[in-house]
Amino acid sequence: MYDGWKIIIGIIIFLGIATFPILYDLGKAAPPPPEPKIDTPEIKKMVEKKCVEPKSLMKIEHMVMLKDWRDWYVREGRSIYIAADGKQYNISLSNTCMKCHSNKKDFCDKCHNYAAVVPYCWDCHIEPKEEGQL
Ligand code: HEC
Ligand code: HEC
Ligand code: HEC
Repeated sequence: MYDGWKIIIGIIIFLGIATFPILYDLGKAAPPPPEPKIDTPEIKKMVEKKCVEPKSLMKIEHMVMLKDWRDWYVREGRSIYIAADGKQYNISLSNTCMKCHSNKKDFCDKCHNYAAVVPYCWDCHIEPKEEGQL
């Protein structure tokens, strides 16, 4: 009888675990969006921490940009991208984007898992090695 509270707590925990997947699904919109990490060695070296284009644009347009890059490179043989601020970048997923964003797991993947998108690019393109990551 004096263990009653334990049973009640046990039931509460059990219900919590049993209903978690359901509640979690219902609340899909609820978990806060991830904050992609930009603390890579390459970005740490930058005086002004800037992406190829402004962050607000990269956030929503990076997939369009990558597809443009691919088409320009593969179909038109273009290998240099000139950004809006006049800076030039080599058109390359692995050597440009992933050079700065070498923390794919904490950056691209984190956001994509949250948004439930799985870009298939890594079937062919080389992912950054992250074993010895700082
Ligand atoms: C079936 C294999 C394959 C898949 C999948 C693939 N690519 Fe590629 N991609 C290539 C090949 C091959 C090239 C040409 C590379 C070369 O000539 O050096 C290329 C070139 C590119 C380039 C320009 C050059 C470079 O080295 O980055 C970009 C950008 C690119 N792809 C982006 C993407 C993106 C974004 C995705 C996913 C949405 C993707 N690719 C998926 C095979 C693939
Ligand atoms: C020279 C280093 C560098 C390169 C190259 C680079 N990035 Fe970035 N990227 C950054 C930095 C630094 C930020 C953070 C910018 C800020 O906070 O204003 C960023 C931000 C972003 C964001 C927004 C993240 C967020 O929190 O919303 C995305 C998406 C992104 N980059 C994708 C890419 C893609 C795709 C490429 C290749 C086309 C690329 N980046 C190339 C340095 C780089
Ligand atoms: C701020 C969050 C965020 C970050 C960081 C981010 N992505 Fe994305 N990415 C998205 C979202 C959201 C979509 C899906 C957009 C849609 O479906 O319209 C997407 C879609 C894509 C697609 C198109 C996938 C497809 O199948 O159409 C590619 C390619 C891509 N991201 C590459 C990258 C790469 C490479 C990085 C890391 C350098 C990166 N993204 C970082 C949020 C992000």
